[in-house]
Amino acid sequence: YKEQTSLIMIFGATGDLANRKLYPSLYRLFRKGLLSERFAVIGVARRPLTNEQFQENVKNSVLEAKETGNNIEEFASHFYYHSHDVTDSGSYTVLKRMAEDLDNQYGLGGNRIFYLAMAPEFFGTIALHLKSDGLTDVPGFKRLVIEKPFGHDLASAVELNEKIRKAFSEDEIYRIDHYLGKQMVQNIEVIRFANALFEPLWNNRYISNIQVTSSETLGVEERGRYYENSGALRDMVQNHMLQMVALLAMEPPIKLTTDEIRSEKIRVFRSLREIEGDEVAKYFVRGQYGAGEMNGLPVPAYRDEPMVDPHSNTETYVAGKLMIDNARWAGVPFYIRTGKRLGAKSTKIVVQFKDIPMNLYYQPNKPLNPNLLVIHIQPEEGITLHLNAKKAGQGMDATEVKLSFANTSVNEMNTPEAYELLLYDCMRGDATNFAHWDEVALSWSFVDKISDYWESTKEESFPNYAPGSRGPEAAEQLLEKDGFFWWRVRDLNVENC
Ligand code: BG6
Repeated sequence: YKEQTSLIMIFGATGDLANRKLYPSLYRLFRKGLLSERFAVIGVARRPLTNEQFQENVKNSVLEAKETGNNIEEFASHFYYHSHDVTDSGSYTVLKRMAEDLDNQYGLGGNRIFYLAMAPEFFGTIALHLKSDGLTDVPGFKRLVIEKPFGHDLASAVELNEKIRKAFSEDEIYRIDHYLGKQMVQNIEVIRFANALFEPLWNNRYISNIQVTSSETLGVEERGRYYENSGALRDMVQNHMLQMVALLAMEPPIKLTTDEIRSEKIRVFRSLREIEGDEVAKYFVRGQYGAGEMNGLPVPAYRDEPMVDPHSNTETYVAGKLMIDNARWAGVPFYIRTGKRLGAKSTKIVVQFKDIPMNLYYQPNKPLNPNLLVIHIQPEEGITLHLNAKKAGQGMDATEVKLSFANTSVNEMNTPEAYELLLYDCMRGDATNFAHWDEVALSWSFVDKISDYWESTKEESFPNYAPGSRGPEAAEQLLEKDGFFWWRVRDLNVENC
């Protein structure tokens, strides 16, 4: 891994994402020597700030992220600020001159990364101006990093894509899905393809179902305006949840190149069974949190959150059953669920293997536990494999044993975070862990049919789950109908739900 050289322009430089994630991640790269002395950042945002004030903000963000190091001052000296009007060509001209000066000052070779970390309604406008005002006309590389949401549905995503494609080619566009930067999401591929123990069993002959859960304890917080137009389906399922499913279900790529991996993921999206109209009610469950308590403190119902319609029909929880209609997965349900204000902040994948054909260790009312492979994505990172073994002592009773692996690095400070990995990938031109347009389009077309149905039918049961709970009852029934239940997995431990 070598140090990288580029000019990074961050649009939305005073926003939450930039402060909480981007500056601390850039600092970590700098501290590790992966960002060379030859880099500069131009923070772009509306409010007027001097370079010195901006550098102060950057230092504070790094310190707030609990980074320590004696070169934070030096790091911040690479940051410059431009107060910008996204619709004004004159403002882009000033930005262009500033970029050229920094190119010369730092010897950046004309390499430019444009990072759009701001309100999505301006993504298209900015991309078009970058081209028409000459900022993309550079001797080095030019790359556009674009945060979610990438559109609101397929039609708006197509419109946005057409605009950005006027200024950047597909291989210059890096669509962020920060789940793809998580260590254990990246590990799915290695666990599958580097283990003779799993890959031969990774199909409908041996796997009975796969469960992907991403639960959050936070409510919608200050994001009511965005969330009212989004809901859990667009906010989490269209991107993060479907991306995890694609990594779990894809065929082994012939090589670990971006194109090969993407094309296998795209084939999974193309194999997703389309669910529409009344069928949606059989495959998907929606929920919305009511008022209650979290950690002994009262919390409001979703409908009472700031900027939320008091009669809102927006879902803060989704559970669904996906079927992947191909030879490997025919008949194997992939259950997904995600929601806000649930009992735990946790993302996990449970792969449940089929029962062995004959149970020699039968005890009345105590069936053998199925083998489970649990991939703990966050907050803990690791794997547990649940097997049956002889209970110590007399007799031959089988009992469940668990093999665990915790993915904690020896030096915790060196465990890279999602944004750090993704920023570095972008600088070195590796788009594997970013969403290709075809993935985005196919996932929108899947999700659109569900949201169309939900928008056409008012959910009378809302609010239907309490803060701190497991979500709506109907999500349990979704699996019970198929003879399964959600595995409840905690702290690299597992219990029946
Ligand atoms: C974001 C969603 O993409 O992912 C948020 O917009 C959600 O609503 C977040 O809270 C969850 O990310 P993480 O990394 O905390 O699981």
